[in-house]
Amino acid sequence: MGTHMSVPTRMHAMQFDQYGAPDVLTLRDVDVPRTGSRDVLIRVIATSVNPVDCKIRSGMQRGIIRYRLPRTIGLDVSGVVVAVGPRVRRFSVGDAVFSSPNHRGEGTYAEYVAVRESELAMKPASIPHIEAATLPLVGLTAWESLFGRAGLAGGEHVLIHAGSGGVGSVAIQLAKSVGAEVTATAGAANHELLRQLGADHVIDYRRERFEDRVSDVDVVLDNVGGDTKWRSLSVLRSGGRMVSIVSGLTEFTKVSGPTVGLLRTIGEMIKLPVVARLRFGARGAHAVRPSDGLRLAELAAAVDASQLRAVVDRVFDLEDLAEAHRYSETGRVRGKIAIRVAPEP
Ligand SMILES: NC(=O)c1ccc[n+]([C@@H]2O[C@H](COP(=O)([O-])OP(=O)(O)OC[C@H]3O[C@@H](n4cnc5c(N)ncnc54)[C@H](OP(=O)(O)O)[C@@H]3O)[C@@H](O)[C@H]2O)c1
Repeated sequence: MGTHMSVPTRMHAMQFDQYGAPDVLTLRDVDVPRTGSRDVLIRVIATSVNPVDCKIRSGMQRGIIRYRLPRTIGLDVSGVVVAVGPRVRRFSVGDAVFSSPNHRGEGTYAEYVAVRESELAMKPASIPHIEAATLPLVGLTAWESLFGRAGLAGGEHVLIHAGSGGVGSVAIQLAKSVGAEVTATAGAANHELLRQLGADHVIDYRRERFEDRVSDVDVVLDNVGGDTKWRSLSVLRSGGRMVSIVSGLTEFTKVSGPTVGLLRTIGEMIKLPVVARLRFGARGAHAVRPSDGLRLAELAAAVDASQLRAVVDRVFDLEDLAEAHRYSETGRVRGKIAIRVAPEP
């Protein structure tokens, strides 16, 4: 195929021009993003909502992420390549691809998005775009936490907090795929889901203290933060590893504003490994999602090998994004919220 197909110059995108509640999100007519020499332009079929989108929109991440507004956000995409830059080697026009692009680029809550080739992979062939779009951010985060940072191995016991959430629902499946023993936490209404995903043991965090149910755990994945993070250190075996993906920036910013909030977050990130080592003889670290296309290709292969599936709770249309953000902010999402931008091709 050629290097581009006909692409309009204008598109719809969900933008906001001030930080605030979900209704700051407005559907706008904007320019289609320009494609750099190493970029691929994607016609977006689907995207998804991640809690970080709501945190960015509310202004609670502005200690680290400073955008010039108005701005399009969104960090997951599944779609079709419509143009490639001259230095792109691995992708062609017409390819079905998915990605969790770096937050420095333009967001995915739009009809088109330009993504670095290095951040892209072929979409899993066995599932539709609407499911594929829910996997990149949470899949990359779960992989990086469990294997990149914690080095989880077969036969080890891992405690996964919020196993019914976006990251947790993928993490349970990835941990099982390497033969780990999995204990997962969620409310009782989600326990059947946890078991379907492969959890060996389930804990209702509202009714029992997880410390009373598990001890000498090899690895903890903390998807909750705050008190849960610090309490989790006590269930690790000596030499165990805890990885948290919640740094506390949003909570600290709410209480202390962006500057002091950022300093408190840095303090928390320094404190975790120190406390883990000195008080518990364990390792503790925070992890962040890498925007890694090669890793994403491995996740796609796991999907096509039926080792990993998307858990889609609800689907919204792009123009109903504010409602989708409100739902995410309830903290009750089971798996993921998918956003339909265009019909499946
Ligand atoms: N560092 C990174 O790169 C990175 C990447 C991705 C996500 N994150 C962060 O990680 C967190 C989780 O993300 P997510 O997408 O998985 O969130 P999510 O999908 O919104 O999580 C919702 C789920 O969490 C469960 N839950 C809520 N409070 C809980 C608790 N105290 N104990 C156990 N389960 C609880 C809920 O189950 P019930 O309804 O049963 O309570 C619900 O199913 C967010 O703060 C997000 O911003 C960080």
